[in-house]
Amino acid sequence: MGNTDVTMEKLVSLCKRRGFIFQSSEIYGGLNSCWDYGPLGAELKRNVKEQWWKAVVQGREDMVGLDASILMHPQVWEASGHVDSFSDPMVDCKKCKHRFRADHIQGDKCPECGGELTGVRQFNLMFKTFMGPVEDSQSTVYLRPETAQGIFVNFKNVQASARMKVPFGIAQIGKAFRNEITPGNFTFRTREFEQMEIEFFVKPGTDMEWFERWREERLQWYVKLGIKKENLRLRDHEKEELAHYARACSDVEYLFPMGWSELEGIANRTDFDLTQHAKKSGKDLHYFSEDTQERYIPFVIEPSAGADRGTLAFLADSYAEEEDRVVLHLDPRLAPIKVGIFPLMKKGGMLERAKNIESALRKHYNTFFDEKGSIGRRYRRQDEIGTPYGVTIDHETLENGTVTLRDRDSMEQIRISEDKVVEELSQRFSRLP
Ligand code: GLY
Repeated sequence: MGNTDVTMEKLVSLCKRRGFIFQSSEIYGGLNSCWDYGPLGAELKRNVKEQWWKAVVQGREDMVGLDASILMHPQVWEASGHVDSFSDPMVDCKKCKHRFRADHIQGDKCPECGGELTGVRQFNLMFKTFMGPVEDSQSTVYLRPETAQGIFVNFKNVQASARMKVPFGIAQIGKAFRNEITPGNFTFRTREFEQMEIEFFVKPGTDMEWFERWREERLQWYVKLGIKKENLRLRDHEKEELAHYARACSDVEYLFPMGWSELEGIANRTDFDLTQHAKKSGKDLHYFSEDTQERYIPFVIEPSAGADRGTLAFLADSYAEEEDRVVLHLDPRLAPIKVGIFPLMKKGGMLERAKNIESALRKHYNTFFDEKGSIGRRYRRQDEIGTPYGVTIDHETLENGTVTLRDRDSMEQIRISEDKVVEELSQRFSRLP
């Protein structure tokens, strides 16, 4: 059933109202399929990427990171097969001129106006631009359609400089661009998006074993960060769905408001990319194992996740409408604001006391100070953006130095010494899986 409280309309509306996500260039009427992350969205997405980096790079001894440039030598995309094969089948309506992905429509009439459709043509998804002052075919470059190639062309640099032994992986987070024929569903399918990709290099013959391990590992990452198990599934690709470089592929799918859709693809890319780059560049991209004295081109397992899709899934899954509140039950590690600070009243020294408590907490956590409106309303405002904790400064604080600490999910409040709040929160964070 998925999360029955949430619809895409409700998410879009909450995201705009509270400053998670705005339409790009909105004052000019917007730019189709482009979105801007506002103050809360920027924090949330940053936290998603940070949790991924912690889990797959800093938390493992067999992984290192990379930050490669978006523009690459044009031959990269010839070698990788993207110039010839990275296209979608497209049809146009002769009457209303709408363009559709041929595999997204049924029948031979335009779904918009019933008009006659053109024959199927292949439409390359790469954005082209020019490097330098001359706009000719010699200066054509592409905005990368995947971050993966930055990793493949740096395979030798990274392996040698970091002295990595196969099996090992290289991870990268960065923007990628695809001129999608039919973008849509809010931030789910956009023409500019952010990827979190791993290329994991293994000895040929061990590839399917590593493929299975990464499938499971990546599914569990979403579960650990709070997505409900019943809203996640692994789906193996049919042969005809496989990308030109893949021997096998499984998607981690999430039950979004529009139905089951891909969050992340785990592909066995074999030795396709390294072999292609070795041929095209003339450079030797073999790996030599000192331990076994074997020389081979490694096979590659690629878990490729979308940072925007992940962020959208965490928002959708955490959204709940409860008795008298809308709440995002975000994992505290992902929540944009970790703790709200609320002086019950402005007078009697409560405001100053609360400010002091906030500056102590701000050294450790992203905080939000709110002195306006009834305390109930202030709690609701933080619940709606997923703030896991609230600290309230009241009369008793002035008398004995205790504050109340409120938990977003249980709404339970405990009294605790103001000096103990940082320690208490740190303990709660350290207990997360
Ligand atoms: N690197 C795989 C993808 O971008 O889909």
